[in-house]
Amino acid sequence: MPYTEPYDALDEKTRDISRAITSLKEEIEAVNWYNQRVHTTTDPELKAIMAHNRDEEIEHAAMTIEWLRRNMDTWDEELRTYLFTSGSITALEDGEAAFESKPGSSLGIGTLK
Ligand SMILES: [Fe+2]
Repeated sequence: MPYTEPYDALDEKTRDISRAITSLKEEIEAVNWYNQRVHTTTDPELKAIMAHNRDEEIEHAAMTIEWLRRNMDTWDEELRTYLFTSGSITALEDGEAAFESKPGSSLGIGTLK
C-alpha cells in the first residue's frame, strides 16, 4: 500500500508521484533479486537471462528517475549535484569537490554550492 495519507486528500499530481516512487521501489527491488540470481545460478543460459532481466530493470529504474526529475521538486538539483561526478561523493554535499566529469567532454569544473 503506497499511500500513508487518505487517498482523497491527495491531489492527482501527488498520486502520480506516488505511483512513480512505488514503481521505482519495485524496479530497484527487482534489480537486487535478479542480480543475486545471476551470481548464484550455475546454469549459464539462466545466468544470461537473469542478467538481461536485471539490466532491463535498471533501464526501467532510470526512466522512472528521469520522470521524477521532471515532475517532482528537488530531484533535478540533487541529481545534478551527484550524478556523473568523480571523487568523494560525500564531499560534494559541502561543495568541496568542484570537479565533475561530463560524458563526451574533457574534465570540467562543476558549480560550487
Ligand atoms: Fe521493470
